[in-house]
Amino acid sequence: MCGIIGVTARDGNVVPLVLEGLERLEYRGYDSVGVAVNAGGRILVRKASGKLADVRRRLALDSLVGSTAIGHTRWATHGAPNDVNAHPHEDCDGSIALVHNGVIRNYASLREELASRGHRLRSETDTELIAHLIEEGVKAGLPVIEALAGAISRLDGSYALAILVAGEPGRIYFARMRSPLILGFGEGVNAVASDIPALLHLTRRIMTLEDGEFGWISPDRVEIYRLGAGGYERLKAIEVQARVKTVEWTLEKASKGGYPHFMIKEIYEQPQALQDTYNGAVEAPEVSRAARLIVEAPRVYVVGAGTSYHAGLVFSYYLSRLAGVASIPLISSEFKFYESTVGEGDVVVAVSQSGETYDTLEAVRAYKARGAVVIGVTNVVGSALDRLGDLTLYIRAGPEIGVAATKTFTSQVMVLQLLAIRAAEARGALDPSEAREKAGILAAAPQVASEAIRSSEPLAKLLASRGNWRSIYVLGRGLGYPIAKEGALKIKEIAYLHAEAYPAGESKHGPIALVEDGFPVFLVATSDSPEIAGNALEMAARGADVMVLKPSDMELDLKSSERIRILSMPGGGLLLEPYSLTPFFQLLAYYKAVQSGYDPDKPRNLAKTVTVE
Ligand code: M6R
Repeated sequence: MCGIIGVTARDGNVVPLVLEGLERLEYRGYDSVGVAVNAGGRILVRKASGKLADVRRRLALDSLVGSTAIGHTRWATHGAPNDVNAHPHEDCDGSIALVHNGVIRNYASLREELASRGHRLRSETDTELIAHLIEEGVKAGLPVIEALAGAISRLDGSYALAILVAGEPGRIYFARMRSPLILGFGEGVNAVASDIPALLHLTRRIMTLEDGEFGWISPDRVEIYRLGAGGYERLKAIEVQARVKTVEWTLEKASKGGYPHFMIKEIYEQPQALQDTYNGAVEAPEVSRAARLIVEAPRVYVVGAGTSYHAGLVFSYYLSRLAGVASIPLISSEFKFYESTVGEGDVVVAVSQSGETYDTLEAVRAYKARGAVVIGVTNVVGSALDRLGDLTLYIRAGPEIGVAATKTFTSQVMVLQLLAIRAAEARGALDPSEAREKAGILAAAPQVASEAIRSSEPLAKLLASRGNWRSIYVLGRGLGYPIAKEGALKIKEIAYLHAEAYPAGESKHGPIALVEDGFPVFLVATSDSPEIAGNALEMAARGADVMVLKPSDMELDLKSSERIRILSMPGGGLLLEPYSLTPFFQLLAYYKAVQSGYDPDKPRNLAKTVTVE
């Protein structure tokens, strides 16, 4: 996830407008910043790693002048967050500069192809390749719009692009596929950006672009085209005008994308984050490399803290079910008690959103010192885990500001599922076509998450308003257990309500003693464990207020009754159930916190990243 903006004005200097937009886009990424201006047919680029305020001062971005400019704030996905990988990126001779948000899936093959045709590739990014693809069209004598259409038709993945072309000083070209992009129309000034807040200082007249749309803006005009199977067609002016809406947002509301808190915004960002995760990992050679290491290892350890530990539990589950590989999931702070069993060639899969969690890094260092190979799974390129690991799998969820992990959990799960599928393939437990089919199922995860959020929202709001809960159980079996643990953690940390998760089969071994009339029990029913119906009945028989969260396509020998309420979520099978059953608990925790007057973004006693023991 990155933030992009482009502004073109009839007269005056647009650089301050671009910088103001970037300030509001920084929540989308903050590891590097760059601006390019088209100064009378010459493109000037200034960019560096670091936060906006710092780069702005160091590179004197305010001294740039031009009436057409683009800007970018980066959240690294391909290549470390350094000066060279910062956007904008240019073609061979600097006559095309572009900024990009998204992930190009066929990056490796395009890179090889462009390099073999003699292009001078300076960065490690997927973005730069797009500039060179456009360059090829332009140098072949095509109009820029055709060169752009040709370039984007070669891309597999997600992109929102804003592009300057030296020979066309007043224009900004743009394109969108599975990454957000809007146009803004002002008086003698038009703009393109990742989201509405970035343009509110310019205009409130906004149009949202659809996937497959591309075109250009100048200060007074816009042309939009739509990519189709047989080429592309231009949208009629009347259609464009009809899609321009006036937004009423205040700036304060807009800084969180219109949401009152980052947590709820990030919950809603899950479909987009999952799309980016999927694009980045489904064919990634490093996922297959990591899978081979896993199947060849004498032992596999999975370490993580909090939510990342729960994602690790989900991984152990799929690794066992799909690949038949046993692994040892560990809470990072417990690592030393198992250290003596670690040996040469063992694999440690270390899961950490931030890549900076002290206990996880300590575990990694200790196990590495004993000869283990470290596979890091993180959201932060260039983090300590990224640097320490032998191999890193990026989750590409974009920055998460709220202390509660939400979108990073589901994105971690997706990368780890793909890793388990590749491990199954490497071990021969799945043949290549079965592995392709399983990975293909995950393409539906964004849609499932989106439907799950929609279905959960009213239920979570309603249940959150029941103010008399003092303690709750969240139970699951199989896959449902780590999902239940993650749900309980959200409720504890955000709503300050005691919530305990345990495998539902454990009830009769002790915990059911607490159950009395009205005791709230949530059951996470996953399609691997229909026997959870029995757990619902045994709880209801003791007076519990039972709520069973289940995928709609799961047969369960259970009916709604006075004591048992069935909450139906989208189906799709075992691989999609983490995306179907997780958002409900995130939303329940969120609404419970808000209704109790707590700040869900900054829960008491907690920090986003725990860098101490
Ligand atoms: O950055 P990490 O994923 O390593 O952080 C680990 C935990 O501190 C973290 O997952 C924590 O449990 C969540 N913020 C809870 O929502």
